[in-house]
Amino acid sequence: MLKTFSLLGLTCLMSVGVFAQNPALIPVPSKANYPKGAYALNKSLILAGPKNDALTTSYANLTDKLTRIAGRKVQWLYDQSSVASLAAIRFRLNTTPDPALGNEGYQLISDVKGVQISANKPAGLFYGIQTLLQLLPKEIESTQAVSGVVWKVPYANITDTPRFAWRGMMLDVARHFFTKEEVKRFIDEMVAYKYNVLHFHLTDDEGWRLEIKSLPNLTNKGAWNVKKEGHFTSFSKPLPDEPRTYGGFYTQEDIKELIKYGQERFVNIMPEIDVPGHSMAAIASYPELSCTPEAVNYQVISGEPFIDWSHGHPEALQDNTLCPANEKVYTFLDKVMGEVSSLFPFEYIHMGGDECPKNYWDKNPQILAMRKELGLKNSQEVQAHFVRKLEKIITSKGKRMMGWDEILEGGGLPKNTAVMSWRGMDGGIQAAKDGHEVVMTPNNHVYIDLMQGDKAIEPPVYKILRLRDSYAFNPVPAGVDAKLVKGGQANLWSEQLFNYRHLQYMTYPRSFAVAEALWSEPANRNWDNFVGRVEAHMARFDVAQKKYAPSMYEPIIDVKRNVNGEIVVQLSTEISGLTIHYSFDHSFPDQFYPEAKGSVTVPKDATVMKIITYRGNKAMGRTIDLTVADMIKRVKK
Ligand code: ACM
Repeated sequence: MLKTFSLLGLTCLMSVGVFAQNPALIPVPSKANYPKGAYALNKSLILAGPKNDALTTSYANLTDKLTRIAGRKVQWLYDQSSVASLAAIRFRLNTTPDPALGNEGYQLISDVKGVQISANKPAGLFYGIQTLLQLLPKEIESTQAVSGVVWKVPYANITDTPRFAWRGMMLDVARHFFTKEEVKRFIDEMVAYKYNVLHFHLTDDEGWRLEIKSLPNLTNKGAWNVKKEGHFTSFSKPLPDEPRTYGGFYTQEDIKELIKYGQERFVNIMPEIDVPGHSMAAIASYPELSCTPEAVNYQVISGEPFIDWSHGHPEALQDNTLCPANEKVYTFLDKVMGEVSSLFPFEYIHMGGDECPKNYWDKNPQILAMRKELGLKNSQEVQAHFVRKLEKIITSKGKRMMGWDEILEGGGLPKNTAVMSWRGMDGGIQAAKDGHEVVMTPNNHVYIDLMQGDKAIEPPVYKILRLRDSYAFNPVPAGVDAKLVKGGQANLWSEQLFNYRHLQYMTYPRSFAVAEALWSEPANRNWDNFVGRVEAHMARFDVAQKKYAPSMYEPIIDVKRNVNGEIVVQLSTEISGLTIHYSFDHSFPDQFYPEAKGSVTVPKDATVMKIITYRGNKAMGRTIDLTVADMIKRVKK
């Protein structure tokens, strides 16, 4: 029998250097050991596996990597003949399912005879291929042929199954539109880390991105705004004659293509139609959906401020809500959900439900009349009434409804509705107590639109979420019924994402951390070990020319005033093994400059502190300019 051990044991061994060469797999597998040695891939290879439509793309993509990038000659055998049993890479679907592997698990054995991947289902073989690709040298990530590499697979015995069935990433294509080809690329990048749900945030105040054939204005008008650059949400108000040509949408044919693309990679796509708030694009297209008469003059938002957040809850300066007291709204939603449900095969439709301003509702005569008639005590109960009506529509189309945790407010949420918890995990805990299925997406762990390091260097977003915070994500907090937690996901909002390169920068490495939280067992996870593997994957990304953030190398900055009134800067690091160096004289610090240990007192006449981290003689982070003016602002807060 194969001897296996957990990663914690493995970490102990690693610390004495025995297994320093263990392959850097993300997410870390359930059980793995790595005997000494590696299997070299000959110039000509036979690959063998069951012929199965669900695997056609997986086989083709592997073949493409092995031929185009690694220069191997590949011949496939789709049978179990004696020649097939001698193939260099063999795939097997278990004839008697192995209960330990479930629907997505796999076993990968690499030894002197080659590589064998077995699973109960095609999805398991697909995940086995993702692991095989990570076992190959990093050059396999190249986009073009590479020479001079010894193509070998380290010997391995891996048995691997996911912790959660729902391993999602949410992509907001409403605030900034990403093309169909970019979405495909996003899917390819997700599945390499064993994600399997793409939550597609298709509508918002800044754009409606899905063709609805019975409601053409949604994309004729609602998909377009004014192109602006700078800091989204702080833009100037567009002028009436500025061209509204920025944006885009997916035709229903595009969506079918994306769904197929996802299915071929074992990814389900969940559409989100975000209502009753976040609906300015719909209202600009069909003003009669609003109860506010001025809505006839409303336009799709281009990133100008229109919600007041100063009270801790959203107050709309322009009413961006569908009117819950207007029957036309339910006719509209019936048409939208009808087309959405015909298009998307996934079991769930997400209806948003988050951040719905109530200030217009509190005063609107139509809504006040409805409250009186139905005995609804407040605007929360009005929203709950809307949610229940929408649930009936979605259910009538043969789908199940999911919404953000605000849909718990006002009570009476139908049991069949699933809840996505984003304002921490309390909403998810409460929802599970009430018997709802839950997907955990707490903003303090998985909101990968937030800054990944200090604002002195990162593109500005209102809050910080470091790699370590993402790694600390546990979707099953104490007190929750684990059976009701379907899993979790990383959420990528796109207010500040103007292009795909920056999308990658925000997604990696934090989505490595979330992937591991969703796939791997807690006992196998270890921060220091993970950081080592992240670095190996950064090297793979360098080969692939994919962007990622180096923020984990940069210091955590804390600014205070001491008892003498001087400003002191406390610098620490998220990962171990770095030294921090600084200057106050405007010159670029390096490893020969003073090292920040404990707190550094800022000289009276300094205007800027330049900071950089090193590992030995190698600069690791970027140089940070922390101005004294910024320090003064921080200590005032
Ligand atoms: C959300 O972040 N408003 C769900």
